Amino acid sequence: MKLWGGRFTKGTDKVVEDFHSSISFDRRLYRQDIKGSIAHARMLGKQGIITPDEAAAITAGLEAILADIEAGKTGFETGAEDIHMNIEKLLTERIGDIGRKLHTARSRNDQIALDIRMYLKEEIKETSALLVSLEETLLNISELHTGTVMPGYTHLQRAQPVTFGHHLMAYFEMFKRDIERLADCHKRADLMPLGSGALAGTTFELDRSAVADELGFSGITGNSLDSVGDRDFAIEFCAAASIIMMHLSRFCEEIILWSSAEFQFIELDDAYSTGSSIMPQKKNPDVAELIRGKTGRVYGDLIALLIVMKSLPLAYNKDMQEDKEALFDAIDTVKGCLQVFIPMIETLRVCKDNMAKAAQGGFINATEVADYLARKGVPFRKAHEIVGKLVLGCIKMGKSLNELKIEEYKQASPVIEKDIYDAIDIVKCIQSRSLPGGPAPSAVADAVNRGKLWLSQLKTVL
Ligand code: ARG
Repeated sequence: MKLWGGRFTKGTDKVVEDFHSSISFDRRLYRQDIKGSIAHARMLGKQGIITPDEAAAITAGLEAILADIEAGKTGFETGAEDIHMNIEKLLTERIGDIGRKLHTARSRNDQIALDIRMYLKEEIKETSALLVSLEETLLNISELHTGTVMPGYTHLQRAQPVTFGHHLMAYFEMFKRDIERLADCHKRADLMPLGSGALAGTTFELDRSAVADELGFSGITGNSLDSVGDRDFAIEFCAAASIIMMHLSRFCEEIILWSSAEFQFIELDDAYSTGSSIMPQKKNPDVAELIRGKTGRVYGDLIALLIVMKSLPLAYNKDMQEDKEALFDAIDTVKGCLQVFIPMIETLRVCKDNMAKAAQGGFINATEVADYLARKGVPFRKAHEIVGKLVLGCIKMGKSLNELKIEEYKQASPVIEKDIYDAIDIVKCIQSRSLPGGPAPSAVADAVNRGKLWLSQLKTVL
């Protein structure tokens, strides 16, 4: 008979039983479920709701079940529906009728809310740790490339020169915000829902705060209906994970472009690229492409959760059982991607010369000529027009701005002197963009130092 079978006169149809069962995926919550049950049983004992002996028997039984599961000695049953009832069934088989007291003053509705919160908190920490390691990698590479000149792009057209270190530090900032978003998400997941019962609390005198303390929560949830009826913490995680994936995906897109013959800015290590089964010459950036592809999956998980929740009346509805696969998939995917992305960028080779060469082309110092004129009193809009015409002339003659003769410059504007060549030198252009947050080697070195400081202070918090 089902644990809830008293009201029923016949068994569940087999098709329904399989359809209904969540054990195939919620089994991964076994540890949280057991730890939560142990804390609940201890509290029931302390509050005199069950006897101290009963609490001890339940606790010992649950600990033994946990050890058995971890040793691979215990299986689960589809017929027992979900992880909660599987564990309770195993407990009763092991310790007899006392096991049936565990569910006093508790519902699977507050139990699953607890399990997911506990699980998510651990996974947030693991995901953050991976992001921290990515940030360390970015700092290390950026430090080596504070002076590595490359073209900066807008519209994927060469725009103004930057440094590779500066480009990487842009991603450092993005992942920094991702870490902060996860910490924020953790804060809201960190409240303990047991005591909410099925929806309306319980008549027993539970000590909710004691359970929260024992399970390492910072506090308890504030409303029983909300505690069992919302999954916004899971949605928040999926949203944060989607943004992480969006950042990774853009980075991957650049890695794919940069490793093409058209760019040749980087070369991926052989261990992080793959070949073609037909074209012997190919070395493909599959890892980066796959991460870009998996981004769609995580967005899908977020949308799935948002849609599952959008029309549910308070409080718990069985639709909510659909939360877990999407959440687990988002967690697995974002962690899996980070695990492979970090060593991929750690091992890539930077082709400095090709980057520098690309930065010489595309009239990337045209803004500098305009700035030069503006400094000499020419209104910027007018200067812009003069330089536009100069560039047009250069294109016709097949020359770069550096190759124009001084007479040609003077023809364009009499205020131009010989020092123009110095002013438009690419390396100088970058060096003078030294405002905080800029691409100059000195500014990038500062950014790296600020990044290191932030990371060292963060570690004490995590
Ligand atoms: N397996 C269920 C879930 O994941 C647990 C809660 C079930 N509650 C219920 N009243 N059927 O959502």
